[in-house]
Amino acid sequence: MRKESPVSFDAKRNSWDLFRYDDILAVLKDPAAFSSVRPQQGPVLLGSILGMDPPKHHQMRNIVSKAFTPRSIAELEPRITEIMGELIAQTEGKTEIDLLQSISIPLPVIVIAELLGVPAADRQLFKDWSDRIAESVEDDSEAAIQKFLADKEKVRRELDDYFMKVTLERRKQPEDDLITKLVQAEVDGEKLTDEEIMEFCILLLGAGNETTTNLITNAVRIFMEEPSLQEKLRQQPELMKGAIEEVLRYYSPILAMNRYATKDVEIGGKQVKKGDLVVTWIGSANRDEEKFPDADRFIVDRTPNAHLAFGQGIHFCLGAPLARLEALIALPLILAHFHDMRLPEGTKLEAIPSTFVYGVKELPVQ
Ligand code: HEM
Repeated sequence: MRKESPVSFDAKRNSWDLFRYDDILAVLKDPAAFSSVRPQQGPVLLGSILGMDPPKHHQMRNIVSKAFTPRSIAELEPRITEIMGELIAQTEGKTEIDLLQSISIPLPVIVIAELLGVPAADRQLFKDWSDRIAESVEDDSEAAIQKFLADKEKVRRELDDYFMKVTLERRKQPEDDLITKLVQAEVDGEKLTDEEIMEFCILLLGAGNETTTNLITNAVRIFMEEPSLQEKLRQQPELMKGAIEEVLRYYSPILAMNRYATKDVEIGGKQVKKGDLVVTWIGSANRDEEKFPDADRFIVDRTPNAHLAFGQGIHFCLGAPLARLEALIALPLILAHFHDMRLPEGTKLEAIPSTFVYGVKELPVQ
């Protein structure tokens, strides 16, 4: 597609699919021409900063990024290491594990739950909600779309109730957690409303869990597909940071984002009309040969590596430092504990049924 039809129109959906790195970067960097605001009311998440344009986006992101700084993320390191220790201990004595159930799903859920200040007893609730947010529509039929929207609406109401309760509690009695920081945060004398705090909590849950799960799983998958990487990364731990960037590029956890043209505009010689949906396939941009020589090869120390896995421009992933830190702690511990990891004979990996998220349903590790 990148070579033959890099900017292609889908008449059925009235949308444009973009596959080339440069075109996608230009769109992501031009929020005035390509809006993130969904024209019709959409499911969970898009009422958050993810679905806002400037100036509101800027103002809101400023407030939340004050509560979500790289420094406060770095402070989580000892606790993330401890959680990983507990998760690995639970696999003791097993000859085969499913990496998702044992490690890559629980780790980000526990980290985000603790960051927000959710009591340990409510963690299972959390995991169920994040799974339900991540579920994608089963097929294109009207019935499936209606069911999908009704499910999302129901999750939305449950989450609203839950976070409203916690927000009100933190207003009365502050704790050392992110919800309290959001309650207290101010920019130019402005505070977040209860609804905005709820929205942000739900965004973290939806944007931060499945993506990080897939980063860790996709990394271990490539370690099993190219077993020499396992010993190499044990011997040269300094390569791990770069390896994580290469996993993000090679198996991008998010494959695409939507934008809406705010005016008639040309992309790659094609005329995009005001209101058209523009789908930026970052998974394809990350394999663009023009940008990444030998793009279909996993090169552990690829430099430079300006992948778009965390997006680009004003919506650049706020959770990138957290996702990177979780992977940087989890992967060396996995390598230290599980030697000579391989897929059991005859395993066929099954992809998550989604066009926007990339990962596998299960990753058996022996
Ligand atoms: C935005 C990817 C982890 C929170 C984004 C965007 C991408 C992305 C591509 C841009 C969306 C757009 O332009 O429309 C990822 C990947 C992750 C990850 C691949 C893991 C490997 C996280 C985590 C959190 C998080 C752990 C928080 C706990 C956010 C937020 C935004 C965002 C709040 C919205 C930023 C804005 O609109 O200004 N992420 N993300 N993400 N991500 Fe992540």
